[in-house]
Amino acid sequence: MTAACELNPWMADLARVKQAMFHPADLRDKWRILVYWLTNFRHSLPICRFMKRSAFLKTMNQHIVIRDETPEDVRAITGVTVAAFATLEISQHTEQFIIEALRAAGALTISLVAELEGRVVGHIAFSPLNMPDGAGGWFGLGPVSVLPEYQRQGIGGALIREGLARLQSLGAKGCCLVGHPEYYRQFGFVNPQGLGHEGVPPEVFFALSFDGDVPQGMVKFHEAFMADGSATSNK
Ligand SMILES: CC(C)(COP(=O)(O)OP(=O)(O)OC[C@H]1O[C@@H](n2cnc3c(N)ncnc32)[C@H](O)[C@@H]1OP(=O)(O)O)[C@@H](O)C(=O)NCCC(=O)NCCS
Repeated sequence: MTAACELNPWMADLARVKQAMFHPADLRDKWRILVYWLTNFRHSLPICRFMKRSAFLKTMNQHIVIRDETPEDVRAITGVTVAAFATLEISQHTEQFIIEALRAAGALTISLVAELEGRVVGHIAFSPLNMPDGAGGWFGLGPVSVLPEYQRQGIGGALIREGLARLQSLGAKGCCLVGHPEYYRQFGFVNPQGLGHEGVPPEVFFALSFDGDVPQGMVKFHEAFMADGSATSNK
């Protein structure tokens, strides 16, 4: 047993835990042994990291505030957007101009920021879509951004869920977006049959219908999505 344990530290840990678990003095205190095992042995490191990350996210999410943008947030929103898209190869790096153009056109139906301890760390925009049947009630999601150092901590998800809830409370029929093929399904988005956007591969075009009806044809995002900063720099 000793040799086996020297060869296999995991087995040694297990043997120690077994011994301790069935020792009469410790039978009453299995919980403490389990905690000791989880926090002291090498093989439990991934579990500990997971627990630490969950605890960190739980603590952090308690401090995240998702709220409407205010005029004071405009500069920070630009900063978050520029930073988030800076290293994204498929980006044209015009997202900050799109947000500005949507705002100037009065087409930022919903513009939410994620604030952490007074700092804007994320942003999401929703704007009206031109649907193929001319019907209203559908909105485009995006751009959505989280500062690189705060990504993958649930902030983007919180912004999207809150934005979709707000859309529904406005009586919206649905929402479309162009985005990462893997990210948006968790929020209920699907690659819709018969609905798309010209020039956009179907696998990156997503729709979420709130009433189950999916219009057929090609949608158009607001013309502000053509903004490239030239209008701003000419001023
Ligand atoms: C996309 C973005 C808004 C997501 O925000 P976030 O706070 O990082 O996302 P969340 O923490 O809510 O979600 C994390 C989970 O979503 C998935 N995910 C996040 N970003 C992803 C990406 N770029 N591609 C695929 N899956 C992604 C992963 O499953 C991840 O879980 P994991 O960390 O366990 O792997 C953020 O990463 C970002 O600003 N990216 C740069 C700008 C951008 O790409 N915007 C969207 C354009 S379509």
